Amino acid sequence: MLESTYVMLKPDAIKARHIGAIISRFETVGLNIERLELGEVTLQQAQANYAEHQGKPFYDGLICYITSGPVVKMVLSGENAVNTARKLMGPTNPAEAPAGTIRGDFGLILDANVIHGSDSRESAAREIDIFFG
Ligand code: RTP
Ligand code: MG
Repeated sequence: MLESTYVMLKPDAIKARHIGAIISRFETVGLNIERLELGEVTLQQAQANYAEHQGKPFYDGLICYITSGPVVKMVLSGENAVNTARKLMGPTNPAEAPAGTIRGDFGLILDANVIHGSDSRESAAREIDIFFG
């Protein structure tokens, strides 16, 4: 189904100069870049994006990390864009992500896991509004 998803390269990916290499994977698979922006995440945006994790032990660190430096914000579109992007990203923990996935190839630790992607069409609509509304 033709749909849109929100994908964000996290601060560690920018610091390691992996922007081009990671974005090229989404283009290679056939997803379209609809929006693309390099910039900071505000505290308000971070809290809205990760509202589901509020109160969990890793929440404060997560908010601190995602606001610690520039990120790349993107809207990608295409057939099954949400699941296609999540499949390319790989499992949340880079230590468990297979080679060939973005987190497997560019990440090492759970706290700085390279990339965020919406986990459903509903999350995608919400997150696109938070970051590009
Ligand atoms: P994301 O939202 O960033 O795309 O990642 P995800 O769906 O694969 O994973 P999620 O469960 O939504 O977790 C959000 C982010 O929180 C950090 N995390 N730390 N220390 C921990 O146990 C833990 N669990 C999650 C990760 O950085 C994860 O991307
Ligand atoms: Mg998530």
